[in-house]
Amino acid sequence: MRMKDKVAVITGAKSGIGLATARRFAAEGAKLVAVDVKDASKEVGELVEDGGQARFVQADVSSASNVERLVQEALAAYGRVDVLVNNAGMELPKKITDTTDSEWDRLMDVNLKGVLLCSRAAVRLMQHQGGGAIVNVASELGLVAGSEIAAYCASKGGVVQLAKAMAIDHAAEGIRVNCVCPDPVATPLLEATLSGSSNPKATQHPEQDAPQAAGTSR
Ligand SMILES: NC(=O)c1ccc[n+]([C@@H]2O[C@H](COP(=O)([O-])OP(=O)(O)OC[C@H]3O[C@@H](n4cnc5c(N)ncnc54)[C@H](O)[C@@H]3O)[C@@H](O)[C@H]2O)c1
Repeated sequence: MRMKDKVAVITGAKSGIGLATARRFAAEGAKLVAVDVKDASKEVGELVEDGGQARFVQADVSSASNVERLVQEALAAYGRVDVLVNNAGMELPKKITDTTDSEWDRLMDVNLKGVLLCSRAAVRLMQHQGGGAIVNVASELGLVAGSEIAAYCASKGGVVQLAKAMAIDHAAEGIRVNCVCPDPVATPLLEATLSGSSNPKATQHPEQDAPQAAGTSR
């Protein structure tokens, strides 16, 4: 029970990887703040019925005021934050020629700025507490490029680099920052990505199927 009584904030906890992480943390004895832009009362209620300690905060990670509110609610409930999982994310299965400015802005606001806002608030608390851990959920598409998913690749590449830079800046303060880069996982997000792509195989399996442009290396 390594997570016993650790206070963990998990964003995007209503569905997919975030919900699976919340279930695992709850089973390990963590005190959870489950965050989602959608109503996740049902999912969080089920965690509590199963014996977990969890509360739901409805918040949009791309909104500074929402993030401030969620931190205040976490502190009011549990008095500290030991772990932040930056999991909330969205997809955009398009080439840049089909991507509008507003689609780009929204994707970057959720996938990248959301990580900044939540991490900055958490780091300030963790500095005060004397340590903590942050895990960003990026993607393999933050490391290798796939077809028809350019803006998402850029956002997740940013998440990878942000984790590396934050790890350097805050290691001496006892704050560990890590990043996971999952392969495809069967979730609603993946279904939406593949249904929006004209070449789902190349979008899903970049290493095997994406054409390599001359002069580039992965
Ligand atoms: N499924 C995959 O194949 C895969 C692979 C690599 C990385 N990822 C990443 O894993 C993370 C979770 O993805 P998933 O597949 O579980 O997706 P999902 O769609 O099942 O879950 C994402 C959750 O994030 C929430 N969310 C979206 N925007 C939000 C916002 N602005 N504020 C708060 N919550 C918000 C959604 O409501 C949803 O509950 C994402 O960051 C995604 O990019 C997924």
